[in-house]
Amino acid sequence: MNYAIPKGTYDILPGHLLRDDPWKASEKWQYLEKVIRNLCRDYGYLEIRTPIFERTDLFVRGVGDATDVVSKEMYNFQDKGKRQMTLRPEGTAPVMRSIAEKHLDQIDSHVKLFYIGPYFRYDRPQAGRYRQFHQFGIEALGESSSELDLEVIDLLYTLYQRLGLKNLKVLLNTVGNASSREKYKTALKTYLTPHFDQLSEDSKTRFTQNPLRILDSKNAKDQEILSNAPSVHDFLDEESKEHFENVTRYLQKQKIPYEITPKLVRGLDYYNKTVFEITSDVLGAQNTIGGGGRFDGLLKNLGGTDLPAIGFATGMERILQTMIGQDCPFPKPNAPFVFIIPLGESPKELCVDLTYNLRHMGIPTHLYLRGKKINKALSQAEASRATFALIIGEDELKNGMAQLKEMQTRNTTTFSLSTLSQEIEKLWSKR
Ligand code: HAM
Repeated sequence: MNYAIPKGTYDILPGHLLRDDPWKASEKWQYLEKVIRNLCRDYGYLEIRTPIFERTDLFVRGVGDATDVVSKEMYNFQDKGKRQMTLRPEGTAPVMRSIAEKHLDQIDSHVKLFYIGPYFRYDRPQAGRYRQFHQFGIEALGESSSELDLEVIDLLYTLYQRLGLKNLKVLLNTVGNASSREKYKTALKTYLTPHFDQLSEDSKTRFTQNPLRILDSKNAKDQEILSNAPSVHDFLDEESKEHFENVTRYLQKQKIPYEITPKLVRGLDYYNKTVFEITSDVLGAQNTIGGGGRFDGLLKNLGGTDLPAIGFATGMERILQTMIGQDCPFPKPNAPFVFIIPLGESPKELCVDLTYNLRHMGIPTHLYLRGKKINKALSQAEASRATFALIIGEDELKNGMAQLKEMQTRNTTTFSLSTLSQEIEKLWSKR
């Protein structure tokens, strides 16, 4: 019997218990989540939590059956009622399902939601790609004008700024509205037809199913063939062109540096007009830290109102890996305020009482129960980065007094045992 963790997954643990990658430290995840929640508050996004599994059809229809995510990477299973279910591979389709199902747009036609949680894709495990990974994403509905594109891109860029990430690239493109995209698809296929036999197997399949995705190919020969291919920008109608120009103008005004990347189409079928990705210089082959775009027809496609929408998702593993790779600051992990050391059996009871007193007042308190070697106990207090250590032995019990030692300065103050809780509370509220 082998109880090893499934391939492509990992545990998130308190930092001091980790034996490998520091980005798996739970205190770092908590910090990231806190920064995200504050950011969403600043931009007016509220949280949605959808189930971890949905009906398979939702992703087939919402994300597109020709995409890699749906055709190769989904965790599908049949439940006991013989329904086909899927562990969610992404968050946009479930959020749209929720909005359509509950008619949330009738309550608020400008719904702005964010989500944080685990997602599942069955892919070859490799650096930066996990079978269970975590995304922070947002979806904003109800506004077709470019101001909303700016808001969404700026929110993602601001998150990375607040976390201290450097050397990011914002790759920006438009895939046009449906009619310009159709014209472009035809032109691209006409261009590729004489080269069809030289295309990679993946690109041959995409040729009929989704020719735009050939632009994304990592195959060198495909890219060589594509070097003279027509650009989507030559097929944009006035509306799509104007929209894209407005987005770029707004980004310039907000000083968000971007690179127009005409071959960027993204891997999911629901996009139209603006698409974007942000890459990091420390992630290696899987260097996309976040990406998104407009998906104006998706809500209608899933049975809801015809509302324009835009959003993104960013991989939380990749954010933390970039932060560590770039030496970004993290707050210090939580530490006890008081580290209580009973010396021997008789002071134990009083120490237990004091510990619970303090904890019930909301003061982080650690009770040391590993013997009476003072030096060992104090070095544990030091390692825990406690603010104060309190040693209570037979003498302290007899005198009714104890010394509180400030760990950093080594200064000690003597307090009566009867007022110790109140004195510590005063220190806690002044900290
Ligand atoms: P996506 O590009 O498929 O977009 O994923 C977004 C981010 O999730 C990626 O940039 C990457 O950081 C992370 N990610 C994806 N797959 C993995 C994996 N196997 N392991 C680790 N990280 C991964 C979406 O999911 C869209 N729903 C984004 C969106 C929202 N578009 C509009 N609204």
